[in-house]
Amino acid sequence: MEEELLQWDELFSVNNLVLDKQHQQLFEYVNKLYQAIIKKEAHLYIAQTVSDLFNYSKEHFDTEEAMMEQTFFPEREAHKRYHRYFIDEIKFFKSTIIIGKQEINSTVLDFAADWLRMHVLGEDRKFAKHLKDLLK
Ligand SMILES: [Fe+2]
Ligand SMILES: [Fe+2]
Repeated sequence: MEEELLQWDELFSVNNLVLDKQHQQLFEYVNKLYQAIIKKEAHLYIAQTVSDLFNYSKEHFDTEEAMMEQTFFPEREAHKRYHRYFIDEIKFFKSTIIIGKQEINSTVLDFAADWLRMHVLGEDRKFAKHLKDLLK
C-alpha cells in the first residue's frame, strides 16, 4: 500500500455520512499530492493535483456551509471565514506553483495537510456537536 500523509480514522468523524465521505475525499487529494511530490511527478501533474484539491475544497465547503445555514449553527459566520482563508491560501499557491519549485510544492502540501487535520478535528467537530444536539 502506498504511504499516506493523512489517514482518516474514526477520530475525524463528524457523525454525518456525507461530510465524512467528503473529508475522506479531501484527505485522498492531499495524499495524491504527497505521492506526486515524493515521486517527483511532472510539474503539470502536480499543478493539476493542487487544482483538484482546490475545486473539491470549494465543493465541500459549500455543502458544509449550506448545512450550517439550514441548522442555524451559531458559529457559521466564523466557520465560513476559516474556509475562506483556506481557499485564499490555496488559490495563492495555485498561482505561485506555476514557477514550479519543489519547496513551494512542499509548502502547499504541509499547509493543506495541517490545516485540514486541525480544522476537521477542531471546527468541524464543533459543528458535529451542534448536529448531535439537534437530535436530542
Ligand atoms: Fe469546515
Ligand atoms: Fe469540513
